[in-house]
Amino acid sequence: MAAEEKRRIMCVGLVCLDIISVVEAFPAEDSDTRCLSQRWQRGGNASNSCTVLSLLGAPCAFMGSLAPGPAADFIAADFQRRGVDTAHVAWQPRGDVPCACCLVNAASGSRTIVLHDTNLPDVTARDFQRVDLAQYRWIHFEARNAAEQSAMLERVERHNRAAAPGRRVQVSVEVEKPREELLPLMGRGNVVFISKDLAQHFGYRSAAEAVQGLRGRIRPGATLICAWAEEGADALGPDGQLVHSDAFPPETLVDTLGAGDTFNAAVIFALAEGGHKQIWHGRGSVWHGHGSPRTPPPGRTLQDALTFGCRIAGRKCGIQGFDGLV
Ligand code: ADP
Ligand code: FRU
Repeated sequence: MAAEEKRRIMCVGLVCLDIISVVEAFPAEDSDTRCLSQRWQRGGNASNSCTVLSLLGAPCAFMGSLAPGPAADFIAADFQRRGVDTAHVAWQPRGDVPCACCLVNAASGSRTIVLHDTNLPDVTARDFQRVDLAQYRWIHFEARNAAEQSAMLERVERHNRAAAPGRRVQVSVEVEKPREELLPLMGRGNVVFISKDLAQHFGYRSAAEAVQGLRGRIRPGATLICAWAEEGADALGPDGQLVHSDAFPPETLVDTLGAGDTFNAAVIFALAEGGHKQIWHGRGSVWHGHGSPRTPPPGRTLQDALTFGCRIAGRKCGIQGFDGLV
């Protein structure tokens, strides 16, 4: 493996415990029913994206907060099982590990999440100072604590100004929640992911409308990407080109929990490019879909990345959890 290919991808953001009940039908309020199955799963956007990056074969690291206890023990063991580096997890002396009760409707794949995420401090710019940026090819930020993350982004930007082109760190930012203080983070990063939720908050009715309407909020030369569930995803590229991918619905929709995080990871994986050839050339079913094998060009285009993102996210919707995704 060349030195370049050893540089990892880091995701900064939430890790939580998802307690998932798979139900046959969505329960009525104040009813008392049984579910089909129940499981604990490591969750959180950045954490889920690490799972997928790892499954795709990209060396990756997670940075976020945990507090010691049984939930964190489960989470740490699961990160290890997936081969995700956790050296930069900030262990907090106070606070609870965020926990979500999730209902996954086996009949539709819908996921209903109730998250408790209130008192665990987030990682700070000071924690981020300890990250050796030379080890990373790409750092993805799930927008959460804007002021601290802005300082982290500043550090990466400074590093990039001094680094040779081949040693720069690519930066992506996901803005999922329509919270006012998170919006300026759209102006940072080479790649910006926005959610359907955020787009609808601004009054847009499709991903294509959203990326065009919000283009003024990203910096020149950046890429803006918006996923839209069964409608796939749209993007606005560095030269202003519009790109679309349809969704790849699985035969049966069973679990859409983390579909967006899967999409983000697969797009980042494709754009980060290099060193992961097996996924493109070896395991044909991932890339060579729909009976028309093609060899992807080196340096995946935005179109390739978007299509790959939708393809992998579609597969995720067809399985419970992430096992067997790749
Ligand atoms: P989330 O709600 O988890 O953020 P999104 O709804 O934005 O996820 O979907 C992300 C991607 O997952 C979509 O671009 C699409 O490729 C895939 N996806 C999600 N829901 C479906 C679905 N019902 N059918 C097919 N693909 C889906
Ligand atoms: C899925 C997810 C879940 C978590 C919730 C947090 O995208 O990350 O794993 O419970 O969202 O908002």
